[in-house]
Amino acid sequence: MEPGLEPGHYAVTDPAKRSMLLTALYMAQEQYGYLSPEAMERVARRLSMSPREVYNTATFYSMFRTEPVGRHVIQVCEGLSCHLAGGAEDLFDFLMERLGIGAGQTTGDGRFTLQMVQCLAACGSSPAMRINDTLYTNLTLGQVDTILQELEERP
Ligand code: FES
Repeated sequence: MEPGLEPGHYAVTDPAKRSMLLTALYMAQEQYGYLSPEAMERVARRLSMSPREVYNTATFYSMFRTEPVGRHVIQVCEGLSCHLAGGAEDLFDFLMERLGIGAGQTTGDGRFTLQMVQCLAACGSSPAMRINDTLYTNLTLGQVDTILQELEERP
């Protein structure tokens, strides 16, 4: 939380506006690959909202990216269910070694970005990871390796 702000300042209270904001942010991210400050300001102007409201929403949801990323953004869940399933750490260690990058980093060829996130809303099917818009659940390391191979073979 930024210093000097109360938690209530972060909520977009109008449900219609909140829904439009999420859609607008999603579309901007699809168009530009991530939500740059300029993209968030454009969304704020279009919806007559403050840039701070837009920024706070964009940084709250793990599906939004505010930094440039690779073509495939891999998000590994480190939430409680995935942790208890015993998969999150193994999965992340495997991906770091397999891709040669750490948390928040992108491979040199710009193909993969690796992130740790808190809960992908698939707690009943953990461990889970998401790659761009695709959710993968009940994962084993062998399945992750196969998924990566398929993505690496794409032109
Ligand atoms: S804790 Fe991993 S999906 Fe919810």
